[in-house]
Amino acid sequence: MELQSRIRSVSHYVPERRVTNEDLSKLMETSDSWITERTGIKERRFVDTTCSGTSELGEHAARIALERAGWKAQDLDLIVVATLSPDFYFPGVGVMLQQKLGCRTVPALDIRAQCSGLVYGLSVVDGYVKSRQAKKILLVCAEVQSPVLDLTTRGRDMAVLFGDGAGALTIEAVEGGEQGVIDSVLGSDGSGAEVLCMKLPGTATPGFISADDVQQSRVHPSMDGKLVFKNAVTRLLETAGSLMQRNKITAEEIDLIIPHQANLRINEMVRAQLGLPPEKVFNNIHKYGNTTAATIPICMSEAVAEGRLKEGALVMTLAFGAGFTWGGNLIRW
Ligand code: ACO
Repeated sequence: MELQSRIRSVSHYVPERRVTNEDLSKLMETSDSWITERTGIKERRFVDTTCSGTSELGEHAARIALERAGWKAQDLDLIVVATLSPDFYFPGVGVMLQQKLGCRTVPALDIRAQCSGLVYGLSVVDGYVKSRQAKKILLVCAEVQSPVLDLTTRGRDMAVLFGDGAGALTIEAVEGGEQGVIDSVLGSDGSGAEVLCMKLPGTATPGFISADDVQQSRVHPSMDGKLVFKNAVTRLLETAGSLMQRNKITAEEIDLIIPHQANLRINEMVRAQLGLPPEKVFNNIHKYGNTTAATIPICMSEAVAEGRLKEGALVMTLAFGAGFTWGGNLIRW
């Protein structure tokens, strides 16, 4: 009998420090109205200087998810972490988390698919489950992005978009039943790699990084926002179409779409094209901005808490991000 990847629990953790659009307008030339109208973001969370890295946020979320599942860290036989903001250049956050949680010496791996981290992560986990390589899995999506943002007018196009946060899922291999990951569709297009990226520090640069790079502020992410926006809408709709076609379902049959939170206008366009009412698409970008890999599990966690995501619901995740990478999962919750 085929094994299903059933989501046992979901949780999230965000740092306490709230940074409003008003707060940012004191650091750079921007305004609450510009940010709200273009993106839907009202505030985001930033870590403070005591934060020990992405694994710290991941650990908070993971401990809540483990408790909700009734599992101990020692029960886990696979740890998957999705992040673009690791604690160290290497090793990955997976092993940091393994050590912090006190897990056994089980495999721990990192996924570098940026905003598509949860979608790729769930697909990878499902592969481990279906090939009978793991039974109790922790999938953590965590980001600490605020320290690399250029919080001056020069970096305002990126700086106003991002926030810090983490989400975690426990996933169990279960024989039979309807609940679990039904299907995943993934895609990528490396021709977009430099459209949205952070190049430094990196091995493509002779010398890796120089004092001049730091002084000239070349150590921040950059993006062609309009090109990303256009590609995002196209790929998200393409992914939703593939998932519906492969699984012979219509948009009306989906109970809740949980899209990546990059821009409320992107998600509104996708919703309108699919002909769905607002209550069928979950958004919380106004509270957290874009927390990259963590957006979808944070949404899942809040949707459960708000009673909008109930057992038995048909859920579709959709994500697009740097790479370009994109994809979606169809899940029976
Ligand atoms: N405050 C005020 N003005 C600003 C700001 C700001 N924070 N940022 C840019 N501007 C100015 C620009 O300089 C420009 O001024 P100009 O007309 O004098 O040149 C003007 O506002 C318009 O800028 P645009 O870039 O044309 O604004 P646009 O409507 O495209 O919105 C945005 C920008 C919000 C970034 C949008 O393009 C977007 O959301 N793109 C997609 C982002 C995304 O999906 N990212 C992917 C995920 S990230 C990941 O994977 C890591």
